[in-house]
Amino acid sequence: MLPLIKVDHVSRYFKHGKNAFHAVEDVSFEIFSGETFSLVGESGCGKSTIGFLLVGLLTPSMGNIFYNGKNLQALSKKEFQQFRKETGIIFQNPYASLDPRMTAGDIIGEPLIIYKYGNAKQRTKRVEELLELVGLNSSHIKRFPHEFSGGQRQRIGIARALAINPKFIICDEPISALDVSVQAQIINLLKILQVEIGLTYFFISHDLRVVKYLSDRVAVMYLGNIVEIAETDSLYQNPFHPYTQALLSAIPIPNPLLEKKRERIVLKGEIPSPLHPPKGCIFSSRCPFAMEKCTHEVPKLEKIQDNHFVACHLYPNKVENRQETKVAASAKG
Ligand SMILES: Nc1ncnc2c1ncn2[C@@H]1O[C@H](COP(=O)(O)OP(=O)(O)OP(=O)(O)O)[C@@H](O)[C@H]1O
Ligand SMILES: [Mg+2]
Repeated sequence: MLPLIKVDHVSRYFKHGKNAFHAVEDVSFEIFSGETFSLVGESGCGKSTIGFLLVGLLTPSMGNIFYNGKNLQALSKKEFQQFRKETGIIFQNPYASLDPRMTAGDIIGEPLIIYKYGNAKQRTKRVEELLELVGLNSSHIKRFPHEFSGGQRQRIGIARALAINPKFIICDEPISALDVSVQAQIINLLKILQVEIGLTYFFISHDLRVVKYLSDRVAVMYLGNIVEIAETDSLYQNPFHPYTQALLSAIPIPNPLLEKKRERIVLKGEIPSPLHPPKGCIFSSRCPFAMEKCTHEVPKLEKIQDNHFVACHLYPNKVENRQETKVAASAKG
């Protein structure tokens, strides 16, 4: 099956004074139509940069991104406009991302004007439809952002992203600025819309519980590099990379008996500066299992099980090693 998105050895550098640093380093993955593909990792690891690359708001410094088999860099102006019509983005902060001087109707209707959708009457009808679709009332059309709650504002952001019937939506931490009580409502809305409209999601988050609930597949990112990609169940039941193991060990378990037994892996040290990344494996400076090889040889992202890939020297294509790693992890405990 042709992937909807194919990211092929993409790097993105940013200038920092006289130096350049790699916000995203040699990243490859595919996203298939109808799936939710999530990206997790700590703040600053490059998640939003990948999101911007996928919608064409940034261009790769190296490598290529394909949409429906077509290289984004090689699209004609008209093809690129069509691509932008088919992609939407939902931002983290519904307080900052909505213009306070515009009404809900204007905010949602703006993409309709940009992409020359129908006449004024048809656009108003479409905005009303979108308000209802995201669980707001069509009579809210004349209200300003400050007259809505945080959850309602994010619904406006979602309606805007959906205005021109996109196929592919980037959700960049869409619930992290919301109260816990409304987070679940927004997540459920995203799930319902996915089924109703047949959307494909690229979901960026550092909330591993939400990611587990929503995703078909998950990629784990550390300092610009993808260290593990797997189907959700496989990743949560069998994390191979020591960084993934540490991230998952931090999730509280709702069952008090199991929670008591949970062993948290606390990583030593800070995330290194992207200006001076460690040589070899990017995680080697914090990895409890780092070997000599890890300090000079970059591990490749390789298949370790069906639909499960890991970039780690602990697994030279052998699944047996994992048990030893777990024992070592609890010994360090
Ligand atoms: N336009 C830019 N110019 C220079 N540096 C940038 C730019 N955008 C991002 N960066 C840097 O690239 C790195 C990755 O940033 P990015 O926003 O992708 O991280 P993130 O994983 O989304 O973080 P967060 O979870 O905090 O949103 C950071 O070090 C950031 O400072
Ligand atoms: Mg971000």
